[in-house]
Amino acid sequence: LWKPGHIIAESIESIRGKVGTDTVLLGLSGGVDSSVAAALLHKAIGNQLICVFVDNGLLRLGEADQVMATFARHLGIKVIRIDAESRFLEALAGVVDPEAKRKIIGRVFIEVFEEAAAELPNVQWLAQGTIYPDVIESAGGKTGKAQVIKSHHNVGGLPEELNLKLLEPLRELFKDEVRHLGTELGLPFDLVYRHPFPGPGLGVRILGEVKKEYADLLRLADAIFIEELHAHGWYDKVSQAFAVFLPVKSVGVMGDGRCYDFVVALRAVESVDFMTARWAHLPYDFLDHVSRRIINEVSGISRVTYDISGKPPATIEWE
Ligand code: XMP
Repeated sequence: LWKPGHIIAESIESIRGKVGTDTVLLGLSGGVDSSVAAALLHKAIGNQLICVFVDNGLLRLGEADQVMATFARHLGIKVIRIDAESRFLEALAGVVDPEAKRKIIGRVFIEVFEEAAAELPNVQWLAQGTIYPDVIESAGGKTGKAQVIKSHHNVGGLPEELNLKLLEPLRELFKDEVRHLGTELGLPFDLVYRHPFPGPGLGVRILGEVKKEYADLLRLADAIFIEELHAHGWYDKVSQAFAVFLPVKSVGVMGDGRCYDFVVALRAVESVDFMTARWAHLPYDFLDHVSRRIINEVSGISRVTYDISGKPPATIEWE
């Protein structure tokens, strides 16, 4: 029988048994998985947990400040924030291949994280918010049928490089189970029922080369879409929704003149396990409203499209 209370009690016991009086380091992304892992670990070992939050410049609008407010201020968890936007963007300059981008983001993350870890005295463990679908989608998964679908940068790499023991308290759980756990641990509803966000962030939602200009436009468009999904009661009805930046320009008319600006695609899906997904049949009036707002409010974007592809064959993310 699956009960969040049991899982928490068992996990706490197991974490304490393993960790003892050691110090644990966690890379906090602000997504559901690492957030729940942080809350669980904090409950188990309190101040023996130190979180490092890397702002890679590929986060959503206002996200870094929200993470700090929730974890450092409200929950009293020790969080070290590192602003590494320019480092990520420099490493990504000129790179267009999706898997190459993922690898670079993963590598720079490791570098930044290692540097932060080196500053901390006496860390023995590295905790990660790896969940079961990450395990089975990555090479070396425990099913034996694992395929490398995409290299999820939150699996593998770090512990060996850092010479730390690995702690993955959510490794056996599916997303919905992780959410139940988060609720039980007292995390805010909005955070726990937040749509998943990929480790490489906007890096895989900006097609091709990542540029700050593109990330800034995408953040604004995405924030409008998400705000309207909340306002119209759709956010919790879909499993994941976001905007994607297409680095192509199309012609339009704005006022008296011709414009030639970028395109965004909106993606919203319904899914149980994120292995398959159906595109969300959002009402035309709603899409119309969102499209108008984006085009009117985000200067630099003049066309909005809606993605009507299912998974399979299309993945949820565009890269
Ligand atoms: P796809 O695009 O493969 O996505 O259909 C399935 C789910 O996984 C998320 N995703 C990622 N998460 N690192 C992550 O941590 C990644 O590289 C990554 N790629 C996709 C995606 O947002 C969706 O929820």
